[in-house]
Amino acid sequence: MPAFTTAPDFVVTGATVVSHDGRRHQDIAVRDGRILAVGDGLATEGIPAVDATGLMVLPGLVDMHVHLREPGMTEKEDFASGTRAAAAGGVTTVVDMPNTKPPVATAERYRQKLELVRNKAYVDFGLYGMIDHDNDGEIAGMAELGAMGFKLFMGQTTGDNRCPNDAAIFRGLEAAAAADLVVGVHAENDHLLRMFGDRLRDSGRKDPRAHLEGRPAFVEVEAVTRIVTMATEAGAKLHIHHLSTAAGLRRVMDLRAQGHRVTIETLVAHLFLDDTAYDTHGNLVKLNPPIRPAADVDALWAGIARGDVDIIATDHAPHTADEQAETDVWQAYGGFIGVETMLPLLLTAAAQGKLTVEDIVRLCAYRPAQRWSIAGKGQIAAGYDADFVLVDPTAESTLDAASLHSKHTVTPYHGWPLTGSVVATYVRGRLVYEKGEIIGEPTGRQVLPVREPAAVAR
Ligand code: NCD
Ligand code: ZN
Repeated sequence: MPAFTTAPDFVVTGATVVSHDGRRHQDIAVRDGRILAVGDGLATEGIPAVDATGLMVLPGLVDMHVHLREPGMTEKEDFASGTRAAAAGGVTTVVDMPNTKPPVATAERYRQKLELVRNKAYVDFGLYGMIDHDNDGEIAGMAELGAMGFKLFMGQTTGDNRCPNDAAIFRGLEAAAAADLVVGVHAENDHLLRMFGDRLRDSGRKDPRAHLEGRPAFVEVEAVTRIVTMATEAGAKLHIHHLSTAAGLRRVMDLRAQGHRVTIETLVAHLFLDDTAYDTHGNLVKLNPPIRPAADVDALWAGIARGDVDIIATDHAPHTADEQAETDVWQAYGGFIGVETMLPLLLTAAAQGKLTVEDIVRLCAYRPAQRWSIAGKGQIAAGYDADFVLVDPTAESTLDAASLHSKHTVTPYHGWPLTGSVVATYVRGRLVYEKGEIIGEPTGRQVLPVREPAAVAR
């Protein structure tokens, strides 16, 4: 019998614990929302046990790219509905993007948003601030309020955000570097994609594929090259969100070979859909950057297999069902939901041998927590938050949009066969989801990045 100085509140028994670097048959003892111990034979008489025999336990996923639409666009989604979807998808931490109405580009807006959402979340959450066309003076203030990092939109997307010019970008990078926080970038060249879009529109095109043709790969490659070059000079920690092309990935590898440091993310959507999806789903699958031809999808999977891709995220980007049915590509919004379907889709890919469950943990929990310095997340180990997801890796089912928890549940994955399902989700030791049901009240907390003392003091 293990010698606990304090008794656990409960022990998870019988499961295979999967981490970023392996799997073991172990028990998990939990107390006061934290993991007390991971090891053999922790279950003792009188201590409540959760029997997870036959299941896998993974660290709760950390999704660094969601749009929960508060404030200003709650007809699409809100913090309660979006984080319920996260809980049901085994995602225990979400980090929310700042392209809201109004955008989160000042310390005051950051404070207001935190106030607005703080009691609504069913899982833990972080909030990004934005680098806009003239707000480098606001970066330190947002950092003091707990900004997880900063989002920089180099190319136009949902929301009324003027893309900053290169001077404003550089000043934003310098300010983020001083605050020791990661800058995450939507890397598309705004001038080029507007020019190509205008050409296609003027030629009378309105079909979904025009969106892909208007955002060719080099538009991403150019923006990646420019931002990596500037971030290195500014000394900023750089992350590229939703890298989508073979050419973009090759360029990142070239830049890394020259000594530039940058992490990259691929989206579930860019891994599971190719351009044939425009024929099936129309503008529902309009996404920025666009869903690409199969050769790009294959290159991203190869990047994952080689370990070149750091992170997988969802870009959970909800719109109303009516908006998603828009047939004119120029009127349609980019993005669709995904936070609840990421883990089932990745488990299905794992069952098919496209990656391992360890890879899923590394890409969706361990590396995100490490990259953004989120203390206590991303691992199942003593002292870490008791955030974990019980998974049945062999359960066969069919993805059903009607079972999802978002405000609008239209998804291109409806009807897809799945191998692997989320059985239960725990956030800081609390059961928040089990077998289709959300359990209890919203008790999610804001998560903060751990910053270097020198930067905090500055
Ligand atoms: C996102 C959204 O709708 O907020 N849309 C998208 O197509 N990806 C914005 C974004 O992440 O670029
Ligand atoms: Zn984006």
